Amino acid sequence: FLEFANQPSSQDGEHWQGNCYVTPQLMMAVGTAVIGSFQFGYNTGVINAPQNIIESFYNETWINRFAEPISQNTLTALWSLSVAIFSVGGMFGSFSVGLFINRFGRRNSMLMANVLAFIAVAFMSFSKLAASFEMLITGRFIVGLYSGLSTGFVPIYVEEISPTSIRGALGTLHQLGVVIGILIAQILGIESIMGNASMWPLLLGFTLLPAVLQCVLLPLCPESPRYLLINCNEESKAHSSEGSDEVSEDMQEMKDESQQMMREKKVTIPELFRSPMYRQPILVAIMLQLSQQLSGINAVFYYSTGIFERAGVSQPIYATIGAGVVNTVFTVVSLFLVERMGRRPLHLIGLMGMAVSAVFLTVAMLLFLRWMSYVSIVAIFSFVAFFEIGPGPIPWFIVAELFSQGPRPAAMAVAGFSNWSANFLVGMSFKYVEQLCGPYVFIIFTVLLLGFFLFTYLKVPETKGKSFDEIAAGFRQSAGQGADKYSAPEEFNSLRGDDPNL
Ligand code: GLC
Repeated sequence: FLEFANQPSSQDGEHWQGNCYVTPQLMMAVGTAVIGSFQFGYNTGVINAPQNIIESFYNETWINRFAEPISQNTLTALWSLSVAIFSVGGMFGSFSVGLFINRFGRRNSMLMANVLAFIAVAFMSFSKLAASFEMLITGRFIVGLYSGLSTGFVPIYVEEISPTSIRGALGTLHQLGVVIGILIAQILGIESIMGNASMWPLLLGFTLLPAVLQCVLLPLCPESPRYLLINCNEESKAHSSEGSDEVSEDMQEMKDESQQMMREKKVTIPELFRSPMYRQPILVAIMLQLSQQLSGINAVFYYSTGIFERAGVSQPIYATIGAGVVNTVFTVVSLFLVERMGRRPLHLIGLMGMAVSAVFLTVAMLLFLRWMSYVSIVAIFSFVAFFEIGPGPIPWFIVAELFSQGPRPAAMAVAGFSNWSANFLVGMSFKYVEQLCGPYVFIIFTVLLLGFFLFTYLKVPETKGKSFDEIAAGFRQSAGQGADKYSAPEEFNSLRGDDPNL
């Protein structure tokens, strides 16, 4: 990766601004931050494989308490709660990002969040010893809180410490952390490794190791230079924490942003929606998050084993791990493409590819022929591959790009909350919708994917190679035209400060 970042390719010279050398310090900071992304992915994937074993633990606990086996309905409800409460935690966590990030800084917020990881590990891994499924469910909620915070903290930190020319590639590392987390969870969840009756508390408690690692490494990482310079006004510290040799160009960029910020003031969530200046980017940010979740990706990651089973695949567990491998490989592909092709084309290709794959999957499920199970495997693999080309990584980091320093934390909170809510919706409702629609269930995702394709085509701007200030200026310009149209000068004035030229 270092080599990749070090060599401006000749065809692509225009967006490698100057000579960009990625320093080990920058890679170390990004690598440490994305441990938070890994934790999010791990806890997304970990609950899948050991479902039957943990359900038997629920049943035994029930028998001990009430001297009768648990009813199927109660068990299903308790299990759904154990799975979905993670996303509820994520909703609360992501919405709280703004409370921490300006007060304590980006790095220290990530460090503090680990307290939640430690508490969650204690609840989840001692639940068996304490014969309490309530503890497991509470632990899932708390690790969801941690993950929700991470989906805000990590992209903001990574984007703010990255040189403009490789901001998208480094931003994709957040998603790479997520997918590696999912894959490791799938592998450790194999019965002969940790997905068995005696080891499952350790499987859930594994989260402890990355949390300890992150706590050791974070104090060695720099604070975001943008936070220091723009929010705290500490230029000399900002200089030493910038990780790239593009440093003076970036410092100038930050100074421009800083001047912009003085006039811009901090922006609250209601102001994001009221001001014509932010209305367009916040709509884009929300729609991109929805396009990620309502694509149906987590129908695959939560329920793939069952989907493969119904499609006639004989070893569904291994097909699921195969999906995890494809997921990881294509995130790496996207990492190398995102600075060459840009965000917009990759997102569009990804959405269209997913829509087509979903049609193939539906046909394979409808024509229940022997060899069709292979078509369904290929269809799910290509669904996942196209997801990681664009809709997986891009929405997470593009929000930090669409907003300047003032509105960024509030925007990230709104975007994260939209993402986690849609995640919860799909996770909870997929089983029921599947019962209603049978094999046609993926057609719903096809229709949604085509809708998001159209929206992206019409409304999503390209952010590749542009400074935060240039991106914000683009939106300000169109809002300027929009402001006349909407004639909402009061809100507009309160956000742009006293400078009449803005
Ligand atoms: C994204 C999504 C997450 C999903 C994952 C799959 O990070 O936010 O919900 O499970 O991709 O790779």
